[in-house]
Amino acid sequence: MTTDPSDVPQIDDWSRLLDGKVAAITGGGAGIGAAISELFAEHGAAVEIAEIDADRARAVVDSISAAGGTARAHVVDVRTEGGVAEFCEAVLDTQGGIDVLVNNVGDYRPLVRFRESDPESWEAMYRVNFWHVVAVTRAFLDSMIERGGGSIVNVHSVEGMRGFPGEPVYAAMKAAVAHFTTSLAAGYGRRGIRANGIGTDLTQTPQVDYISGYGEHETLWESWAPVGRLGWPADQARVALFLASDMSSFVTGHNIPVDGGTKAGGGWFYSPTAKRFTNRPTTL
Ligand SMILES: NC(=O)c1ccc[n+]([C@@H]2O[C@H](COP(=O)([O-])OP(=O)(O)OC[C@H]3O[C@@H](n4cnc5c(N)ncnc54)[C@H](O)[C@@H]3O)[C@@H](O)[C@H]2O)c1
Repeated sequence: MTTDPSDVPQIDDWSRLLDGKVAAITGGGAGIGAAISELFAEHGAAVEIAEIDADRARAVVDSISAAGGTARAHVVDVRTEGGVAEFCEAVLDTQGGIDVLVNNVGDYRPLVRFRESDPESWEAMYRVNFWHVVAVTRAFLDSMIERGGGSIVNVHSVEGMRGFPGEPVYAAMKAAVAHFTTSLAAGYGRRGIRANGIGTDLTQTPQVDYISGYGEHETLWESWAPVGRLGWPADQARVALFLASDMSSFVTGHNIPVDGGTKAGGGWFYSPTAKRFTNRPTTL
C-alpha cells in the first residue's frame, strides 16, 4: 500500500486488456457467459469454461479457437461439489492459478410462484444462483491472492437490486450474490482482489428469449426500456471486460445494473402515444 502514482496499472495495449491472464468463467457455453468468454479470449486471456452442456462447451471452444483465441471447456455441473472440484482442480493443475473469475451461472427456472413453493424449490434456487458462486470463489481465491491479486465478476440480476414481485426467492438469491460481492471486496481488497457484480436485465439469450416470447416486441421497446432497445450478450460482456481488466483498477465492491436503464427508470413508463413519461399506467 503506497501513495505512489505508479500504483495505477500500466495499460500497454488497449486492444489486449487481458493479455497473459487466465480467466475462469462458469456457464460460458451460451448467452452472456459465451459472449464474455469470446470477448475475454479476443483480449488475450486463456479462457477456462465450466459448462453443463457438452455441445455448447464444444461450440464455444471451437468459435474461440477459430478466432485465434485460447479456450478450454470442462463439462461439469457447478451446482454440485463434485462439479466444482473437477472444474477448479483441472484449471489449477494446468494453469497454476487464475487472474479473473466470472461467476455467471444462474437461472429463474423452473419458475415457482412463492405460494406454490416448497423447500425443494428453495433449495434449487439456492443451488443454481448462489451456492456455486461461493464454492467456486472459495476454490480459486487462494490462487488469485498468491498471484498478487485478481478480479472477480459476479453476474446476478437487476432483480437482486430491486423488488421482484414475480419470484422473491430467486430475487433474494441474486441479492445474496450482490452482497457477497460487496463483502468479498471489502474483505480482500488489501490482498489485491477486486470484486464487482453485474445486475443483468433485458438481455436476449437462450434462457431469456424476448424475441420469440413477445410477438409485438419491436413496437414495445420504446416504452419498455429507457434506452429504447433490447439488450444483447455483448452489452454485458463489455461491462464484464471493464470490471475484469485494469480499466477498472480503482473500482471494487459495486453492483452495476446493466439493464438498459430499467432500474434507474423503475416505476416510470414512457408513453409513445402521449410522448411523455407516466407513473400512472392508466394514462398510457
Ligand atoms: N438474460 C437476461 O436478461 C438475464 C436477466 C437477469 C439475470 N440474468 C443472469 O445472467 C446470467 C447468465 O444468463 P443467460 O441469460 O446468459 O443464461 P443462459 O441460460 O442463456 O446461459 C447460461 C449458460 O450456463 C450453462 N449452465 C446452466 N446451468 C449450469 C450449471 N449448473 N453448471 C454449468 N453450466 C451451467 C448453460 O448451459 C448455458 O450455456 C445468469 O446468472 C442469469 O440469472 C440474465
